[in-house]
Amino acid sequence: MILEEPKWLPINQIIDPAGSLRVLELPFEAKRTYFIQNVPKGSQRGFHAHRSLRQIFFAPQGRFEIELITCKSKKSFLLNSNDQRALIVPPGYWRVISSFSKDATCMVLASEHYMESDYIRSFDDYVSWCKENFRNES
Ligand code: TYD
Repeated sequence: MILEEPKWLPINQIIDPAGSLRVLELPFEAKRTYFIQNVPKGSQRGFHAHRSLRQIFFAPQGRFEIELITCKSKKSFLLNSNDQRALIVPPGYWRVISSFSKDATCMVLASEHYMESDYIRSFDDYVSWCKENFRNES
């Protein structure tokens, strides 16, 4: 398998005197959505990877950071409600979500219903799995 690159997805804005409307045209079907709020200052979330789940992250309000880690590399992405973009996270990335602003909402669209067996929650297990499964990462 090849590990796909994360990609930015534009959020289109339609502003008129009665308010602003924001649109994401989804590149895959979402079966689940969830959002994270009230993250205490300095707290970090994530610390897992998904075997098959595809997700889109965005900040309807505030800001936060997502670090995507593989067995070979690390990339950081800033999600800010002022930037009109969302992040598509393909399956296979270890993620750490941090630097939440006080007012942040982390909104997530997910390709599948919740399934704990799709998670890899130990970093050592993740590194072994990543090296075994992704030709471009070993
Ligand atoms: P988790 O995905 O580990 O959260 P984060 O990546 O934000 O740190 O989920 C935290 C807990 O919530 C975990 O016990 C699983 C549960 N959960 C559900 O029951 N359904 C869901 O859709 C999600 C995302 C999590």
